[in-house]
Amino acid sequence: MEKVVPYSDSQATKKEQVALMFDNISSKYDFLNRFLSLGVDKYWRRKVVKILKSLKPDNVLDIATGTGDLAISIAKIKPKKIVGVDISKGMLSLGVKKVQRKGLDNIIDLKYGDSENLPFETESFSAVTVAFGVRNFENLEKGISEIFRVLKREGKVIILEFSNSNSSIMRKLFNFYFKKILPKVGKIVSKDKSAYTYLPDSVESFPSGKVFAEVLEKQGFKLITWQSFTFGVSTIYVGSKP
Ligand SMILES: C[S@@+](CC[C@H](N)C(=O)[O-])C[C@H]1O[C@@H](n2cnc3c(N)ncnc32)[C@H](O)[C@@H]1O
Repeated sequence: MEKVVPYSDSQATKKEQVALMFDNISSKYDFLNRFLSLGVDKYWRRKVVKILKSLKPDNVLDIATGTGDLAISIAKIKPKKIVGVDISKGMLSLGVKKVQRKGLDNIIDLKYGDSENLPFETESFSAVTVAFGVRNFENLEKGISEIFRVLKREGKVIILEFSNSNSSIMRKLFNFYFKKILPKVGKIVSKDKSAYTYLPDSVESFPSGKVFAEVLEKQGFKLITWQSFTFGVSTIYVGSKP
């Protein structure tokens, strides 16, 4: 897999660049998410919560939690505890404020944590979620193996990620939107010249469907299923730890 980084002229690691990029755009992240996706991102996260609800998890780890939108939505299904981790302190500090405003700080705990070296004991969570995070991992296999490690037996991972549409017409349409419109609006609003070109570039080079399912399988996950949404623009993967 080709390594796509936010700032191609930087010597920093992908992880450092990703953390910096999300720090830079954090104050505009929620607004741009809603605006650029026309609110569809909320619909996709709701689908993740619906799957989780049927699993009745005791506790949930939300990796790459960002400003905490998915963790906050998960609170509706009332697990005893939700922990969110992220490597961007800028994103996390906004998330912490949101959680406090919503009076959810008794069940949601957001803190610094790297997907590739999770600060948790083996077999500690009933479910792990990642929304739009795996594409940003520096070492995808290590990130997935860490998810596998911290999951309890029979626990599930639910991953929401952008994918490349199978329909050539839709792919053309979305490529036009992703590559021509989104980077321009993203640059003006976020003031980060690279963040919204990194988005389509990283989506294009990231494995989706069966290829991503094989990455999960290689790290030990079984019963892997996936379902695409919005003409294949995003996909939710579910895998079980045997
Ligand atoms: C596109 S945002 C998604 C945020 C949130 N899950 C959502 O749905 O809005 C991606 C997040 O992944 C985080 N991230 C990237 N690599 C990470 C890693 N190795 N460990 C933890 N978080 C990471 C970034 O800092 C960023 O906040």
